[in-house]
Parts: sequence; C-alpha cells; structure tokens
Amino acid sequence: MDFTKVKENEEKSILEKKEIVEKDFWRQKYHIQGIVGLINDPNGFSQFKGKYHMFYQWNPLGTNHKNKTWAHSVSSDLLHWERMKTALRPDTWYSKDGVYSGSAIVDDEKLYLFYTGNVKDPEGNRESYQCLAVSNDGENFERWEPSIVNQPDGYTRHIRDPKIWKKDGKFYAVIGIQSENLEGKAVLYSSENIKDWKFEGEIAGANHGKIKDFGFMWECPDYFQLKDEKTGEIRDLFVFSPQGLEPEGDLYNNKYQTGYLFGKLDYEKTEFEILSDFVEIDRGHDFYAPQSMEDDKGRRIIVGWMGIPEEEDFPTVKNEWIHCLTLPRELKVIDGKLYQVPIKEMESIRGEKIEFSGKVAGEVKIGTGATYELKAKFSDFNSDFGLKLRTGKNSETVLKFDYNDKKFALDRTKGEQPDKRLRKVYLGNISELELTVFVDNSSVEVFINSGQEVFSSRIFPEKDADRISVFADKDVNVKIEKWEWK
Ligand code: FRU
Repeated sequence: MDFTKVKENEEKSILEKKEIVEKDFWRQKYHIQGIVGLINDPNGFSQFKGKYHMFYQWNPLGTNHKNKTWAHSVSSDLLHWERMKTALRPDTWYSKDGVYSGSAIVDDEKLYLFYTGNVKDPEGNRESYQCLAVSNDGENFERWEPSIVNQPDGYTRHIRDPKIWKKDGKFYAVIGIQSENLEGKAVLYSSENIKDWKFEGEIAGANHGKIKDFGFMWECPDYFQLKDEKTGEIRDLFVFSPQGLEPEGDLYNNKYQTGYLFGKLDYEKTEFEILSDFVEIDRGHDFYAPQSMEDDKGRRIIVGWMGIPEEEDFPTVKNEWIHCLTLPRELKVIDGKLYQVPIKEMESIRGEKIEFSGKVAGEVKIGTGATYELKAKFSDFNSDFGLKLRTGKNSETVLKFDYNDKKFALDRTKGEQPDKRLRKVYLGNISELELTVFVDNSSVEVFINSGQEVFSSRIFPEKDADRISVFADKDVNVKIEKWEWK
C-alpha cells in the first residue's frame, strides 16, 4: 500500500462502509468499537486534562489485521466516548506497515505516546521501531524519529508493545520480545529524558523463576503496583499475553491467553521475581492484550480487547466491522487476591429496573432485554442452576453453576458466534453465588463473587433474542435486580 495515501484511503473507506455498519443490530451501546473495519488492542489508555483517552489498534480499510492506525476516543466517564480524529497513521517510514500497540504517559503537561512502528518487506523481513509521539492538546501528535531501533542481542525482531511508567524521576518501559531460541520474554528499558532509551535487561520470560517453557512470544506486557486493601502491603503485578500455550483442562482454551503474575520488580537485578502462579485474568472466549492506567481517583482501571488474534470468523464481518473493547474494570488486591470490579460509573447508565425474588425449580422468565445490567444472588442450592440470556429461537447464552463439578460455565453454544465450546472455572464449595452481568448487543461480561473471576465473551444472537430466565434443577433461592441501560 502507498503509505502516503493512508488518510485518503481511510476517509474513503469510512464513507463507503459507515452506513452498512450502523445498520447492524450487533453494534454495541457502551463498548468502544471501530467506526468501520477491525479494531484490536487498547493503546495509550490515559487521563489528560481531565478526560480519559483511549486509543486502539484500528484497521480502517478492512476486517483483517492490516493497516494498523491508532484510533482515538475521549470520555469523561469511561462509558460515553467521543471519537476523535485518528492519532497515528502508518504514514512514516518507520511505521509504514502498521502503527502497533503501545501506551501513554502524561508528563510536564504533555501527553506522550510510546508505540511500535512496524515495517515488513515483501519477503516478510521485519523491522521494529519503538517511537514516541507528543501532544500539548491531546488531539494533535508530533511524531519523533524512532527511539529504539530493532532488538538487543540475543532476540528476534519480534519486539513490541512498550508500556511506559515513571519512577523517581526516571522513565521505564517494559516491552514484549522473542528470544533467538523462540521463547516469549519481557525486557526493561529506561530513559532520563523520554527520548533516549537504554536497554536494562530481561525481567521475565521462559526460564525465569517458576516460568519454564511458556510460549513463543509475549505480547502487550503491563506492570504496576497495587496496595492490598486488607494488609496494606504493596503488591507488584505483571500482566502479559503469552502466545503458544497448550490447553490444560479448563485453562488456556482460547487461541492465545492473557494472565498475571504477582511478584516484585527488582530494578537493580532487572528481574521480576515471580511470587505466584500464572493466572488467566479472564475466563471467557474473548479477552486479550489488556492495558491498565491509574486515574486521578487512584483507581487502577483495566480495559481489554474483546477478541483474540487469528479469530476473525465473526458474523459482523459481512457488515464491514469486527471487534470491540471490554468495559473498563477496576483492579483491586484484597488479602493477596486480585479482584476485578465493575467501575462505579456503570451505575449511572442504569435505567428502568425490574426485580425478582423467590424459590425457583425449573425455569422462570423474569424479563427481557438486549442491553442491561443484571445482578443475581443465588443461595440454598443443591443442584445445577443459573441464568439464560438473550434467548430466542436459535440463540441463547447460558450462565450455569454445575453443582457436582463446583464449576461455573459460560455456554454460548447457540448463536452465530464461532468457537461454541464452553468456558469454565472451578469455584469450589460455595454456599452463595453472586453474579453481576453486563449484556450489550453482542457481548456478555460476567463478574463472579465480587470480581474474583470474570468472563468476557462476544455473542451474536438473532435479532430480538431478548428473553431472560432463571433456572434450577431443584430448588434455589434467588434474588435478581435488572436495570435496562439508559
Ligand atoms: C496484540 C498485537 C500486538 C501488536 C498489535 C498489532 O494483539 O499483536 O502485539 O502490537 O496487536 O495490531
């Protein structure tokens, strides 16, 4: 593609496709999605001059993983997003085959983006450049020539997705990388002035601590600290998206995974000392490459891509768009455990409310809806039970607790979504189950027991599939509140 014409091509594509995209009943109400084309990773998630900024990987020209730009949206409440003009396009020599993922930092009243410029020749030889762009107004970005050219010794050209932070007056970035023996790793760089970067070393990857063989590439690393709300201890977390894990029972059933490790980043030894197992951050079908930021209320908020690389077999492709981001969630550590909690702002979009409570055996319809929040509390159970959502003639999404296996499952067998296998997580012996569920036109996000586990999955029900019911094999006590979204 002629990289000097990307803006023209983008405008043309939007003009041609926007109308057909907008007619699609699978378009989301409160999730960030592309105006046309494909989106993937959240990028540059930040807060600048009082507004939240979200950038995201966007192919404006089609529904495949090409022509990556940084789309840009801003919001005051993380739910109502206004689309801004495209922030970065593949119109420089060092990003001509894609402006790949990266992060943002606000420093000295400027918004800096730190991203990967991707260059690939027709033989597939790759060049990777880590580059900065800077803005005074949060809208127009001045691009600087690459700061980091290709890889340090011992690695391949797969180096990308810098996540930047500042500590004691110095900038740091963790970057995903592949070693020459084709193992996924993460490296640390530092900078005094944000422009010139120094390679510090490898902080995590295969053959570090507990991690042995763990995939051929680690994408989109993120590092941050959270204060344990119970013990007051500061906990370090490292979140990353390894590629190449094999399924193990209920684990790693998506094509690629995302998870976290607790540990301690030692800047002297340049090592993230691992103090936990790898835990998948989301148990659903569609979650990858998340990015977090701390806002001015001191909240650590994370947003993921509600999609998986190499999974483009979605029915929206015929309507010229694919993928969205997840709803923002707040991360908390309580007594050494990571929780993901819906952000408080979700309450502001609650509209008309219905309630249901009582004993259920069999199946009971409690209402209808396609875009809503639902809270359900189940107790006194001794058999399988759950909820059925977006039910129509040929579609249904089932959230079910399997009493004998002690597992919670998300079943999206019925509908037009690909990958109809169940996703499950073991909950153990519980006497109560609390679900907070967010249903948008083509997605469901389920928060279990105050955010101990989360499932994010896209669903593609037929139009008007909106029945909501509760079911149980034998008696269960249930209390439900449901708010239609405003
Ligand atoms: C993750 C990823 C990143 C890359 C970007 C390209 O989904 O592959 O590693 O920067 O997407 O769109």
